[in-house]
Amino acid sequence: MADTTVPYSTGDSKIGDTTIAEMRELAARYPVGRSALLPMLHLVQSVEGRITPEGIEACAEVLGLTGAEVSAVATFYTMYKRRPVGDYHVGVCTNTLCAVMGGDLIFERLKQHLDVGNDETTEDGKITLEHLECNAACDYAPVMMVNWEFFDDMTPESATRLVDDLRDGTEVKSPRGATICTWKEAERVLAGFPDGRADEGPTGGKATLAGLRLARERNWTAPAGTHARSNGSAAEQTVSAEAAAGPRPEDQPGKESQAVHTDDSRKED
Ligand code: FES
Repeated sequence: MADTTVPYSTGDSKIGDTTIAEMRELAARYPVGRSALLPMLHLVQSVEGRITPEGIEACAEVLGLTGAEVSAVATFYTMYKRRPVGDYHVGVCTNTLCAVMGGDLIFERLKQHLDVGNDETTEDGKITLEHLECNAACDYAPVMMVNWEFFDDMTPESATRLVDDLRDGTEVKSPRGATICTWKEAERVLAGFPDGRADEGPTGGKATLAGLRLARERNWTAPAGTHARSNGSAAEQTVSAEAAAGPRPEDQPGKESQAVHTDDSRKED
Protein backbone atom coordinates (compact mmCIF):
# COMPACT_ATOMS: atom_id res chain seq x y z
CA MET A 1 0.00 0.00 0.00
CA ALA A 2 1.35 3.43 -0.88
CA ASP A 3 2.56 5.77 1.86
CA THR A 4 -0.17 8.36 2.36
CA THR A 5 1.71 10.52 4.85
CA VAL A 6 1.89 14.05 3.50
CA PRO A 7 3.84 16.87 5.14
CA TYR A 8 1.85 20.04 5.68
CA SER A 9 4.34 22.05 3.62
CA THR A 10 6.51 20.74 0.81
CA GLY A 11 9.30 23.10 1.80
CA ASP A 12 10.24 23.40 -1.86
CA SER A 13 7.33 25.33 -3.30
CA LYS A 14 7.53 26.09 -7.02
CA ILE A 15 5.28 29.15 -6.71
CA GLY A 16 7.51 31.89 -8.09
CA ASP A 17 7.30 35.18 -9.94
CA THR A 18 5.86 33.59 -13.09
CA THR A 19 2.98 31.97 -11.20
CA ILE A 20 2.28 35.14 -9.22
CA ALA A 21 2.15 37.11 -12.50
CA GLU A 22 -0.28 34.55 -13.95
CA MET A 23 -2.43 34.81 -10.82
CA ARG A 24 -2.61 38.57 -11.29
CA GLU A 25 -3.51 38.00 -14.95
CA LEU A 26 -6.39 35.73 -13.89
CA ALA A 27 -7.61 38.22 -11.27
CA ALA A 28 -7.63 40.98 -13.89
CA ARG A 29 -10.06 38.99 -16.05
CA TYR A 30 -12.90 39.59 -13.57
CA PRO A 31 -14.67 42.78 -12.46
CA VAL A 32 -13.98 41.65 -8.89
CA GLY A 33 -10.61 39.96 -8.55
CA ARG A 34 -11.66 37.40 -5.95
CA SER A 35 -13.89 35.78 -8.59
CA ALA A 36 -10.63 34.36 -9.96
CA LEU A 37 -9.95 32.28 -6.86
CA LEU A 38 -11.18 28.98 -8.32
CA PRO A 39 -9.01 29.16 -11.47
CA MET A 40 -6.11 30.41 -9.35
CA LEU A 41 -6.35 27.29 -7.20
CA HIS A 42 -6.25 25.16 -10.34
CA LEU A 43 -3.13 27.09 -11.32
CA VAL A 44 -1.58 26.24 -7.95
CA GLN A 45 -2.28 22.57 -8.63
CA SER A 46 -0.73 22.81 -12.09
CA VAL A 47 2.49 24.05 -10.51
CA GLU A 48 2.59 22.22 -7.18
CA GLY A 49 0.66 19.04 -7.97
CA ARG A 50 -1.70 19.86 -5.12
CA ILE A 51 -2.93 22.77 -3.01
CA THR A 52 0.02 23.71 -0.81
CA PRO A 53 0.13 26.21 2.05
CA GLU A 54 2.42 28.32 -0.13
CA GLY A 55 -0.16 28.27 -2.92
CA ILE A 56 -2.90 29.31 -0.50
CA GLU A 57 -0.81 32.20 0.80
CA ALA A 58 0.01 33.35 -2.75
CA CYS A 59 -3.68 33.40 -3.71
CA ALA A 60 -4.53 35.28 -0.52
CA GLU A 61 -1.83 37.87 -1.12
CA VAL A 62 -2.82 38.51 -4.75
CA LEU A 63 -6.53 38.80 -3.91
CA GLY A 64 -6.26 40.59 -0.59
CA LEU A 65 -7.92 37.72 1.26
CA THR A 66 -6.86 35.88 4.38
CA GLY A 67 -5.26 32.47 4.19
CA ALA A 68 -8.25 31.11 6.10
CA GLU A 69 -10.66 32.43 3.46
CA VAL A 70 -8.71 30.81 0.63
CA SER A 71 -8.31 27.61 2.61
CA ALA A 72 -12.07 27.48 3.23
CA VAL A 73 -12.66 27.42 -0.53
CA ALA A 74 -9.82 24.98 -1.27
CA THR A 75 -11.11 22.47 1.26
CA PHE A 76 -14.74 22.73 0.15
CA TYR A 77 -14.45 21.54 -3.45
CA THR A 78 -13.34 17.99 -4.16
CA MET A 79 -11.38 18.96 -7.29
CA TYR A 80 -8.80 20.62 -5.04
CA LYS A 81 -6.38 18.11 -3.59
CA ARG A 82 -4.43 18.39 -0.37
CA ARG A 83 -2.37 15.30 -1.19
CA PRO A 84 -0.03 15.12 -4.17
CA VAL A 85 -1.75 13.75 -7.26
CA GLY A 86 0.08 11.40 -9.61
CA ASP A 87 0.66 11.99 -13.30
CA TYR A 88 -2.87 10.78 -13.95
CA HIS A 89 -5.90 11.23 -11.73
CA VAL A 90 -8.14 8.24 -12.37
CA GLY A 91 -11.71 8.53 -11.12
CA VAL A 92 -14.27 5.76 -11.04
CA CYS A 93 -17.91 6.75 -10.68
CA THR A 94 -19.48 4.70 -7.91
CA ASN A 95 -22.70 6.64 -7.70
CA THR A 96 -25.94 4.68 -7.94
CA LEU A 97 -26.32 4.03 -11.67
CA CYS A 98 -22.63 3.47 -12.38
CA ALA A 99 -22.34 1.32 -9.25
CA VAL A 100 -25.08 -1.09 -10.31
CA MET A 101 -23.75 -1.14 -13.89
CA GLY A 102 -20.31 -2.24 -12.68
CA GLY A 103 -18.64 0.84 -11.16
CA ASP A 104 -18.18 -0.80 -7.75
CA LEU A 105 -16.58 -3.82 -9.39
CA ILE A 106 -14.26 -1.63 -11.46
CA PHE A 107 -13.18 0.34 -8.41
CA GLU A 108 -12.42 -2.84 -6.43
CA ARG A 109 -10.51 -4.31 -9.38
CA LEU A 110 -8.40 -1.17 -9.77
CA LYS A 111 -7.62 -0.99 -6.05
CA GLN A 112 -6.26 -4.53 -6.25
CA HIS A 113 -4.51 -4.02 -9.57
CA LEU A 114 -2.79 -0.80 -8.51
CA ASP A 115 -2.34 -1.79 -4.86
CA VAL A 116 -3.79 1.48 -3.59
CA GLY A 117 -6.85 2.56 -1.65
CA ASN A 118 -9.21 5.42 -2.35
CA ASP A 119 -7.43 8.75 -2.87
CA GLU A 120 -4.01 7.12 -2.90
CA THR A 121 -1.21 7.21 -5.45
CA THR A 122 0.78 4.29 -6.84
CA GLU A 123 4.37 4.01 -5.66
CA ASP A 124 5.68 5.01 -9.10
CA GLY A 125 3.75 8.28 -8.77
CA LYS A 126 1.79 7.63 -11.97
CA ILE A 127 -1.80 7.00 -10.89
CA THR A 128 -4.00 8.48 -8.19
CA LEU A 129 -7.22 6.51 -7.77
CA GLU A 130 -10.39 8.06 -6.44
CA HIS A 131 -14.03 7.10 -6.42
CA LEU A 132 -16.22 9.85 -7.78
CA GLU A 133 -19.82 10.84 -7.38
CA CYS A 134 -22.11 11.18 -10.41
CA ASN A 135 -20.30 12.72 -13.37
CA ALA A 136 -23.53 13.57 -15.19
CA ALA A 137 -22.69 10.94 -17.79
CA CYS A 138 -25.08 8.24 -16.57
CA ASP A 139 -26.08 7.40 -20.17
CA TYR A 140 -22.61 5.85 -20.55
CA ALA A 141 -22.49 4.05 -17.18
CA PRO A 142 -20.22 2.82 -15.80
CA VAL A 143 -18.05 5.85 -16.37
CA MET A 144 -14.45 6.62 -15.48
CA MET A 145 -12.50 9.83 -15.82
CA VAL A 146 -8.81 10.43 -16.38
CA ASN A 147 -7.80 13.98 -15.56
CA TRP A 148 -11.51 14.83 -15.96
CA GLU A 149 -11.82 13.35 -19.47
CA PHE A 150 -14.58 10.77 -19.86
CA PHE A 151 -14.13 7.04 -20.45
CA ASP A 152 -17.50 5.50 -21.19
CA ASP A 153 -19.08 2.05 -20.86
CA MET A 154 -16.13 0.70 -18.91
CA THR A 155 -15.53 -2.84 -17.67
CA PRO A 156 -12.99 -4.15 -15.13
CA GLU A 157 -10.92 -5.39 -18.07
CA SER A 158 -10.97 -2.12 -20.04
CA ALA A 159 -10.26 -0.22 -16.81
CA THR A 160 -7.13 -2.24 -16.03
CA ARG A 161 -5.98 -1.90 -19.65
CA LEU A 162 -6.48 1.85 -19.39
CA VAL A 163 -4.35 2.29 -16.25
CA ASP A 164 -1.67 -0.05 -17.65
CA ASP A 165 -1.47 2.07 -20.81
CA LEU A 166 -1.20 5.24 -18.74
CA ARG A 167 1.60 3.76 -16.63
CA ASP A 168 3.45 2.47 -19.72
CA GLY A 169 3.38 5.87 -21.38
CA THR A 170 1.17 4.64 -24.24
CA GLU A 171 -0.80 7.47 -25.81
CA VAL A 172 -4.38 7.32 -24.55
CA LYS A 173 -7.40 9.04 -26.04
CA SER A 174 -10.75 9.54 -24.39
CA PRO A 175 -13.55 7.94 -26.47
CA ARG A 176 -14.84 11.51 -26.72
CA GLY A 177 -11.69 12.56 -28.53
CA ALA A 178 -9.28 14.24 -26.14
CA THR A 179 -5.70 13.01 -25.97
CA ILE A 180 -4.88 12.48 -22.31
CA CYS A 181 -2.24 14.85 -20.98
CA THR A 182 -0.82 14.88 -17.46
CA TRP A 183 -2.87 16.01 -14.50
CA LYS A 184 -0.77 19.13 -14.08
CA GLU A 185 -1.24 20.04 -17.75
CA ALA A 186 -5.00 19.51 -17.42
CA GLU A 187 -5.04 21.70 -14.30
CA ARG A 188 -3.39 24.50 -16.24
CA VAL A 189 -6.19 24.36 -18.81
CA LEU A 190 -8.78 24.42 -16.00
CA ALA A 191 -7.00 27.47 -14.64
CA GLY A 192 -7.81 29.28 -17.87
CA PHE A 193 -4.70 28.82 -19.97
CA PRO A 194 -5.96 26.83 -23.00
CA ASP A 195 -3.75 24.27 -24.74
CA GLY A 196 -5.56 24.74 -28.06
CA ARG A 197 -7.16 21.28 -27.98
CA ALA A 198 -10.63 22.11 -26.66
CA ASP A 199 -12.32 20.94 -29.87
CA GLU A 200 -10.73 17.50 -30.07
CA GLY A 201 -13.44 14.94 -30.69
CA PRO A 202 -17.24 15.00 -30.94
CA THR A 203 -19.48 17.03 -28.66
CA GLY A 204 -22.24 14.47 -28.22
CA GLY A 205 -22.37 10.70 -28.65
CA LYS A 206 -25.17 8.33 -29.64
CA ALA A 207 -26.52 7.73 -26.16
CA THR A 208 -26.67 11.43 -25.33
CA LEU A 209 -28.45 12.22 -28.60
CA ALA A 210 -30.86 9.24 -28.52
CA GLY A 211 -33.76 11.36 -27.26
CA LEU A 212 -33.23 13.90 -30.00
CA ARG A 213 -33.15 11.16 -32.64
CA LEU A 214 -36.41 9.66 -31.35
CA ALA A 215 -38.08 13.07 -31.24
CA ARG A 216 -37.18 13.69 -34.86
CA GLU A 217 -38.29 10.22 -36.00
CA ARG A 218 -41.64 10.55 -34.21
CA ASN A 219 -42.17 14.22 -34.92
CA TRP A 220 -42.39 15.12 -31.24
CA THR A 221 -42.34 18.75 -30.21
CA ALA A 222 -41.51 20.39 -26.92
CA PRO A 223 -44.33 22.04 -24.94
CA ALA A 224 -44.57 25.81 -25.19
CA GLY A 225 -42.50 27.71 -22.67
CA THR A 226 -43.57 30.69 -20.58
CA HIS A 227 -42.16 33.10 -23.18
CA ALA A 228 -44.36 31.66 -25.93
CA ARG A 229 -47.44 31.68 -23.70
CA SER A 230 -46.98 35.35 -22.90
CA ASN A 231 -46.96 36.19 -26.62
CA GLY A 232 -50.27 34.49 -27.20
CA SER A 233 -49.93 33.57 -30.86
CA ALA A 234 -50.59 29.92 -31.73
CA ALA A 235 -47.59 29.84 -34.03
CA GLU A 236 -45.34 30.98 -31.21
CA GLN A 237 -46.72 28.45 -28.74
CA THR A 238 -44.96 25.45 -30.25
CA VAL A 239 -41.20 25.19 -29.91
CA SER A 240 -39.92 22.53 -32.25
CA ALA A 241 -37.71 19.82 -30.83
CA GLU A 242 -35.14 20.78 -33.43
CA ALA A 243 -35.01 24.40 -32.29
CA ALA A 244 -34.86 23.35 -28.64
CA ALA A 245 -32.11 20.82 -29.22
CA GLY A 246 -29.75 22.97 -31.29
CA PRO A 247 -27.71 21.95 -34.34
CA ARG A 248 -27.53 18.35 -35.52
CA PRO A 249 -24.12 16.72 -34.94
CA GLU A 250 -24.00 15.77 -38.61
CA ASP A 251 -24.37 19.47 -39.43
CA GLN A 252 -21.20 20.26 -37.48
CA PRO A 253 -18.00 19.34 -39.36
CA GLY A 254 -15.92 16.93 -37.30
CA LYS A 255 -18.69 16.43 -34.72
CA GLU A 256 -19.97 13.05 -35.85
CA SER A 257 -21.17 10.59 -33.25
CA GLN A 258 -18.56 8.57 -31.46
CA ALA A 259 -17.12 5.69 -33.41
CA VAL A 260 -16.08 3.81 -30.29
CA HIS A 261 -19.62 2.83 -29.30
CA THR A 262 -20.48 -0.02 -31.56
CA ASP A 263 -23.61 -1.06 -29.68
CA ASP A 264 -25.61 1.64 -28.00
CA SER A 265 -28.94 -0.07 -28.47
CA ARG A 266 -29.40 -0.79 -24.74
CA LYS A 267 -29.06 2.94 -24.04
CA GLU A 268 -31.61 3.99 -26.63
CA ASP A 269 -34.51 1.74 -25.66
S1 FES B 1 -24.02 7.69 -11.76
FE1 FES B 1 -22.09 7.65 -12.77
S2 FES B 1 -22.22 9.30 -14.18
FE2 FES B 1 -24.10 9.38 -13.13
